[in-house]
Amino acid sequence: MSILIVYDSIFGNTGQIAQAMADELSKTHEVRLATAQQAQGMDLSGVDLLIVGSPTRGFRPTPEIQEFASRPDLAGPAAAFDTRIDLDTIEPAPLRWVVHAGGYAAERLARELTEQGCVLVGDTAGFVVLGQEGPLKVGEVERAAQWARDLIEQLPGNGRR
Ligand SMILES: Cc1cc2nc3c(=O)[nH]c(=O)nc-3n(C[C@H](O)[C@H](O)[C@H](O)COP(=O)(O)O)c2cc1C
Repeated sequence: MSILIVYDSIFGNTGQIAQAMADELSKTHEVRLATAQQAQGMDLSGVDLLIVGSPTRGFRPTPEIQEFASRPDLAGPAAAFDTRIDLDTIEPAPLRWVVHAGGYAAERLARELTEQGCVLVGDTAGFVVLGQEGPLKVGEVERAAQWARDLIEQLPGNGRR
């Protein structure tokens, strides 16, 4: 199966998550990993699963990944993830509610992918960073690998292609 993972990352955390997914899935599948910039103009034909990820910035994905997710030639099974700040680290505490209520990049990416005609696989995922520039919370890299594995299981045909 051919899998394409496209991501954006300002401080490198979303990149680490995307790399963990690529490392895991490439054990059993053909995986391409590309930044939103590298994926510009990329031929997307033959992709069996598209995974798109972004840092959450101002409740939404970055403009670069948003632009990728709105490509009219997207189709087929797709999944979305983001990185986001650990709510417990936000001060003052009432701001936590605001950040949570504002929403996250993955939800918006999933909506955009669906609007372009993709079929969502699994639930969106958010991976937590402990400060704006990271690091990732302990265990998130492993959770990313597991999430990616689970996506394959949830594909129509169960990935045994
Ligand atoms: C300008 C800015 C806005 C941010 N907005 C949010 C937000 O709305 N919600 C959230 O959970 N995290 C927010 N964050 C934290 C980012 O999600 C965090 O920097 C990102 O996950 C790091 O990923 P990266 O290393 O791939 O850039 C923001 C960070 C910055 C710098």
